[in-house]
Amino acid sequence: MTTNSITETPEGDLLANINDLEWLDVGGGTRFKVLRLCDITGSWALYVHMAPGARFQAHRHEGTGQFFITKGELIYDVGKAGPGTYGFEPTFAVHVDAHCDIETEMLFLGQGAVTYFDKDNNVDYVFNVKMLRDALAGAQTLDIGHA
Ligand SMILES: [Fe+2]
Repeated sequence: MTTNSITETPEGDLLANINDLEWLDVGGGTRFKVLRLCDITGSWALYVHMAPGARFQAHRHEGTGQFFITKGELIYDVGKAGPGTYGFEPTFAVHVDAHCDIETEMLFLGQGAVTYFDKDNNVDYVFNVKMLRDALAGAQTLDIGHA
């Protein structure tokens, strides 16, 4: 079956080419190409584009995250990640400063949810597969750079 240029078999094999997918604007200078969403495991796979100056609001990973930088440089609490860098974000990792100064792109593989906080460190919202699915359907607007 092919949906939105993603090929998936009944067994769950999947092929998604970023060159065939539309960008989803998620605010704060960041856009996603959603490669895979799994309602069973709660995992998600994204190709991420950050414009120069893009920034994520403070957040806590409720599951693991993994990324691979393909372009630019992600700057966050742990350090600077340039092209070719693989990063692992453990469950409950808190990141308060994740941004880029130059155009940056990465593959991001997430598990479960990410809790985003406002300026006063209160929970702003919880990002997960359902939220991404609703955003793709146009039923939800994301603003991960808010606050
Ligand atoms: Fe993070």
